Order: sequence, then C-alpha cells, then structure tokens
Amino acid sequence: MPLTPVLFELSGEHPTLPAAEVLACLRAESPGSRQLALGPGYLLAACDLGSLPQVHGRLGLTHRFGRYLASCELDELEPVSSRLELPSGSVCVRARKVEGSFPEVNTHEVARKVGKVLSREHEIDLTCPELTVRALLSEKVHLFISEHEIDRKQFDRRKVAERPFFSPISLHPRYARALINLTEAKRGDRVLDPFCGTGGIVLEAALLGMRALGSDIDPQMVEGCRRNLEHFGVEGEVQVADIGDVPSMFGKVGAVATDPPYGRAASTKKEDIDVLYRRGIKASAEVLSPGCRAGIVLPREALSGEMELLELHRQRVHRSLTRHYHIFIRR
Ligand SMILES: C[S@@+](CC[C@H](N)C(=O)[O-])C[C@H]1O[C@@H](n2cnc3c(N)ncnc32)[C@H](O)[C@@H]1O
Repeated sequence: MPLTPVLFELSGEHPTLPAAEVLACLRAESPGSRQLALGPGYLLAACDLGSLPQVHGRLGLTHRFGRYLASCELDELEPVSSRLELPSGSVCVRARKVEGSFPEVNTHEVARKVGKVLSREHEIDLTCPELTVRALLSEKVHLFISEHEIDRKQFDRRKVAERPFFSPISLHPRYARALINLTEAKRGDRVLDPFCGTGGIVLEAALLGMRALGSDIDPQMVEGCRRNLEHFGVEGEVQVADIGDVPSMFGKVGAVATDPPYGRAASTKKEDIDVLYRRGIKASAEVLSPGCRAGIVLPREALSGEMELLELHRQRVHRSLTRHYHIFIRR
C-alpha cells in the first residue's frame, strides 16, 4: 500500500493529547502508517490516503489535515513555493501561526506571497477554490493542501448545557471523543463507560458508530443518559449497575472509556475514593481481553496489576483538579 506524507494541523488546546489522538486514529484506521515528524502545532505522518476519510470522521482535537507539500524557513518561501507540484485547479492560500511562533510576521502577507508565486500557474480563487494551500508557521513554515477540515463546532452543540439532562461534571465532548479514540476502538466495537453519568462518553462512542454501552450506580443518571442519547438520535445500552457488577452484566467489551467521580462534587455514594478507583480499574481490566485498551480519567496517577499503562496525559482544570488521562492495555 503506497504511503503519502500527510500534515495534521493540531489544535493548541493541550500539549500532548492532539498528537496522541491522531496517532491512535491512524493505528485504528490506517495500519502501516507511521509518524515522520512532530513539532509545535503539527504532526507529519506517512499514511494511506484511502483511509483518511475514516480518520477525518473521528478526530476532535485537530483543525485540518491533508497532503504535505514542503517545509522551509520564512526567507525561502518564494523559491520553495515556485517548486511546489500541485494538482491542477484554482487555488486559495491561507496562513496561520502556531501560538508563540513568528511574533512579528503578518500571516496575510505570508499567504499573499505564496499566492503570488502560485498565481503564475494557477487561477487564484479566494471564495470557491478547488485547492486550499495552507502555510502553517511553526518552528518553520510547513505547506500542505487542506483536504479535511474538522467541524469542531459540532462538539459545542453537545456540551453539557446543550443536553436535556446535565450535571456540571462532564468532560467536554472533544475530550470525551479523544479519550475513546485513544483506546483505538473501531466502528462496531462494544465500548463501555461504567461510570456513565449523563452519558457524554456514551454519546460520542455511539456517534462514532460503536456499540455504545454505559452503566452508573445512580438510576437518575441512567435515565438522564438515555434521554440524552435519544435527544441526539443515537442508540446505546445503558443499565443501572455498581462498578463491581459490570463484568457479569456486560461480559467482554472491545474497549473501556470512562471518567469516574473525582471524589468531590461527583457522587461516590460515600465510598472511599481510592477503594472506588481500585474497583473501577479492576472491573475495567476484567471486561477486556488481552490487547484491548481502557481510557480512564482520574484526578491522580494510578496503576493496575492486570493492565500496562501505555500513555498518561495531564490536563490542569483548576488549582485543585488535574485530570490524568490513563491509557491502559490489558495484559
Ligand atoms: C464524573 S461522573 C461521570 C461523568 C460522565 N462522564 C458524564 O459525561 O456525565 C461519575 C459517575 O460515577 C457514578 N458512580 C459513583 N459511584 C459509582 C459506583 N460505585 N458504580 C458505578 N457508578 C458510580 C456517579 O453516579 C456519577 O454519575
């Protein structure tokens, strides 16, 4: 299978999760792809172009991606642009700076400069171009064709306050999506959130075409989760269950993605939080077959005897809460 270099323009909302999400989606949807370079605001990977529509449908923490063209210093932009080999068609050039890079540079000037060079061979069309060439100003300037734009606003339409049933304790849908992606689950896989609350993770799993399963000890949450799924027109199987009963209730699943209570606002039903986490991690391991993954968000670092910790991403929420995104693999 021929591999083509593709540049992913990452969102700057977290230092490590966006790149990790892209790599996990490539492993799930584009086996054989490999990372070529990683820098501020971008990831370059060799991929099978045919698998990219599936990758596009999954990502939450990327702005856009497409075929890579070249990288250069700012003062080499004109000669490098003149040597680009582009498909035929009208062109528009857009430029963006990664936060903190090239503070004195005006991105409109960069886009105009590249556009002027490309106009020798291509019609320039700023409203309805056949090709959009992007210049991403990072530690260098990276040029690529933007072929897949992620609709990031769709996630805001599913934020807690937009759901018929909500509690304030819920991951933003983009992070719920990223957590599921990090488990490398695929369409059709059974994906379980055993602390489902209002169903933010269950909802994203269902929208990704997975068989979405959820459970929670609180019958009100389960009812609310079902209402939320119905509101967004997706299906899921949601049951009332204490975490300890989850293995017998659901049997084996393809992946676990979950955000247990943090021990403060979210209810732990008076159980000691460390005991609850131990039971949660043990039950997650029990429902997975060897090689399957669990994405578990906790307010601190945790380990498991039955699962190996593959990745850990920290996200500071406020002074007393740092979310720790654990990605475990069942031994
Ligand atoms: C942080 S909330 C989950 C938030 C969820 N991701 C969402 O989008 O709304 C944690 C949930 O764990 C549930 N919970 C607490 N103790 C539990 C237990 N022993 N077994 C199962 N669920 C439990 C709570 O009822 C609560 O809904």
